[in-house]
Order: sequence, then C-alpha cells, then structure tokens
Amino acid sequence: MSDDIRHPTRLPCGADDSIFKLGSLPIVSIDILLRWKMKVQKMTPAVLLVLMAGFGAASAALAADVAVLRAQATAVFGPLPEAMPGAAGDTSERRALGERLYFDPILSLDRSQSCNTCHRLDAGRGGVDNEATSLGVKGERGGRNAPTVLNAGFQIAQFWDGRAANLTEQAKGPVLNPVEMAMPDEAAVLARLAADAEYPAAFSAAFPNDDAALSYHNMAEAIAAFERTLRSDDRFDDFLGGDDTALTSAELQGLETFINTGCTACHNGPLFGGNSYQKLGLVEPYTASTDPGREALTGNPADRGFFKVPMLRNVALTAPYFHDGKVATLEEAITLMARHQLGRELAQDEIASIAAFLRSLSDTKRGL
Ligand code: HEC
Ligand code: HEC
Repeated sequence: MSDDIRHPTRLPCGADDSIFKLGSLPIVSIDILLRWKMKVQKMTPAVLLVLMAGFGAASAALAADVAVLRAQATAVFGPLPEAMPGAAGDTSERRALGERLYFDPILSLDRSQSCNTCHRLDAGRGGVDNEATSLGVKGERGGRNAPTVLNAGFQIAQFWDGRAANLTEQAKGPVLNPVEMAMPDEAAVLARLAADAEYPAAFSAAFPNDDAALSYHNMAEAIAAFERTLRSDDRFDDFLGGDDTALTSAELQGLETFINTGCTACHNGPLFGGNSYQKLGLVEPYTASTDPGREALTGNPADRGFFKVPMLRNVALTAPYFHDGKVATLEEAITLMARHQLGRELAQDEIASIAAFLRSLSDTKRGL
C-alpha cells in the first residue's frame, strides 16, 4: 500500500534455535499407531475379539500420544488470545463507525472501492480478494498480494515488509494510495465525511472527548477498532483446548509433519507467523521475485528479500500465495517453502499431510 507510511520497526529477529529444536522432536509412534488402528478396522469380528485387549492398550497409548502432540503444539503455537492488543479501549460506537467505514466506498476517489473490495469479509471470504495483486480504482495493480485482515492486529506490524507499526497507521495508507483508493489528500476525505448525513454524529459518538472528532487519524482509529474484532475461531484451538475429536487423524499427522519438518522455525506462535521477519530463500535462493522486501524500508542491503513471516491461520482461504501472489495453490506454497527455506524436497504424502493440517486453521464461520 502507501509507500509514504514508513515506520521503521525492529530489525528481523532471526530464527530461534530453541524452536528449531522443538520442531525436530520425533513423534513417530502416533503415525504407527494410527496405521495399526486402520488395519484393525478392516478385520473380522472374531479376529477383533481376540485383539480387543491389545487394541484397548493401543488406544490408550494413542490418546497419550495425542496428549504429547497437544503439549508440543501448545508450547510452539498456543491458542489465539481472546482480544487483540488495544481492543480494551474500543467502544461499541467506535467499532460500529469503523465497520461502516470499512465497507463504505465513500473512501475511494470514484466511490467504487471500500476496504472490503480487497479484503473481503462478505460471503464467507477470508479477508482477501483472492487475486494475485489487487486492482485499484484507476485500473492499476500494485506489486503485492493483499494479506488477510483476519487476526491481522495480533501481528508485530502490518504489511509484507512491516512498514506500518499497527492497524491505525496501516489504515491511513490505502485511502490515499494512488494504486488503491486514490483519494487526493486527507482534506478531501474529511470534506466528504463531513458532508455525509450521518458520519459527523457517528464520529462525535465514537470519540466523545475529542474537540475535532472527525479527523483522519480518528477515521483510521475507528477502522482499526473494527478490525480488532476480526478474530477467527478454528478447530486447531478446539484441539489445544482438549477436544480430541476436533482434528481428524490425517490433520493430526499433518500437524506432526509440520512440526517435524521444521516449518515452526518461522511459523510459530498463536498465528503460525506474523511475529518475525525472515528471508525468502534462506537456504535455496528464491529468484522468482525481485521485490527488495525490508531493504526498501531500512536501506540495509542485508534486509534484501526479508518479509514478515505470514500468519497461516486461515491460509486455506487466502490463495494465491507469497508476497507477489504468484503461487497458486497451498501444495505449491508448501513445496517451495520446504525447498527454499529448509533445503528439503518433501514427498507428495508429506505435502498433502501438511496441507490437510493447514486447512484446519480456517475460521469455522468462513469458507468458500
Ligand atoms: C486495492 C486493494 C486494496 C484496498 C482497497 C485496501 N487494501 Fe489493504 N492491502 C492491500 C494490499 C495489496 C496489501 C499489502 C501491501 C503491502 O504489504 O505492501 C494490503 C495490506 C493491508 C493490511 C496489512 C495486513 C498484514 O498482514 O500485513 C491491512 C490490515 C489492510 N490492508 C487493511 C485495509 C483497510 C482497513 C483498507 C481500507 C481503508 C484497505 N486495506 C484497503 C490491498 C488493498
Ligand atoms: C526460514 C523461515 C521460514 C520457514 C522455515 C518456513 N517458512 Fe513459510 N514463509 C516464510 C516467509 C518469509 C514467507 C513469505 C514469503 C513471501 O514473502 O512471499 C512464508 C510464506 C509461507 C506460506 C504462504 C503464506 C501466504 O499467505 O502467502 C505458506 C503456506 C508457508 N510459508 C508454509 C510453510 C511451511 C509448510 C513450511 C515448512 C515446510 C514453511 N513455511 C517454512 C518463512 C518461512
């Protein structure tokens, strides 16, 4: 979005060694036990009777392994916190104003685009437009893929390169960005809102202590208040909460594969990312993109190709992938990640397994 938002954030924190170690803890027995359970299900009742005692013991062992996996997943990821940073001060008036602004094309030059045009929350969409790069009001496309607004406020910073410190600073960008909503300046935005029949009163109600309640900053603050309500619920958190039936055995295996492959070196914490900057092409150079990433922000050549590690909650809803949107499918993204970030070629069943798990991270209220 707006190149004029340049909020230097902290430099990349490198991959944490301790997480690498956690990521390679072997949990092989669950795999063996699940396969054994499948074989048992195909046996005749007589054979089953004979095996009953043994099967009972195996189920107990399986439950114990699920408990180990849950403990490990809790340590590496953990459930999404209930509230986003800053949400405590949000009033219902402020959230309602923000929601209205979010969906209102009044914020774009020809009144054709709202935030929801590129970050769709209607029709079960995952907070994105599912385009490689987004079309602005003037028919031009920016160079980057629109990330999801779901859970965005939990991240360390906003944008692929982290150039906005928080949701409020971020929301000031797209309205004035010439390849997005393309309003000429803040004054033009405020003039439009002031001429509206309802906005002036809504701003006063949302910001009762401000003399000039209708301001560009407060517009962004209200939108941020609405975005702080965009927290997703998924079956992975149900699993962490103790529900053994929340994830299928295929998804549990995928979780194990994700951890054992080492994806957790970067995709960790409750968002499975969103908490550090890392180099795309860390092990195997990634030559398909010339985007300088954080170098454009810090001016430091050592930051070339560094991007914020994207969150993987809701990732199944947000294709296409990578900062340039050039990667069409989840399976392709997983293959490229293993190759370029870890120097590994995954087998087809490993890729499918990780993809199955990542699909469990979708908001249960959404889906195309
Ligand atoms: C024309 C499409 C378009 C419109 C309209 C648009 N955005 Fe975006 N949005 C993008 C793109 C593309 C990016 C990524 C740009 C980058 O990182 O350089 C982005 C990034 C974001 C992010 C950062 C998410 C993250 O994980 O870093 C948030 C939050 C966001 N937009 C919210 C909004 C809000 C709020 C509005 C309305 C005021 C809005 N956007 C309007 C396309 C759009
Ligand atoms: C060394 C850090 C690192 C490791 C290890 C890593 N990733 Fe990533 N991942 C990233 C970064 C950085 C990006 C953003 C790439 C870009 O800018 O286009 C990313 C992007 C992704 C995306 C695309 C998300 C989107 O919204 O576009 C997926 C899916 C993904 N990673 C899954 C995985 C999986 C699965 C593994 C393990 C096989 C893995 N990653 C290992 C750092 C890492």
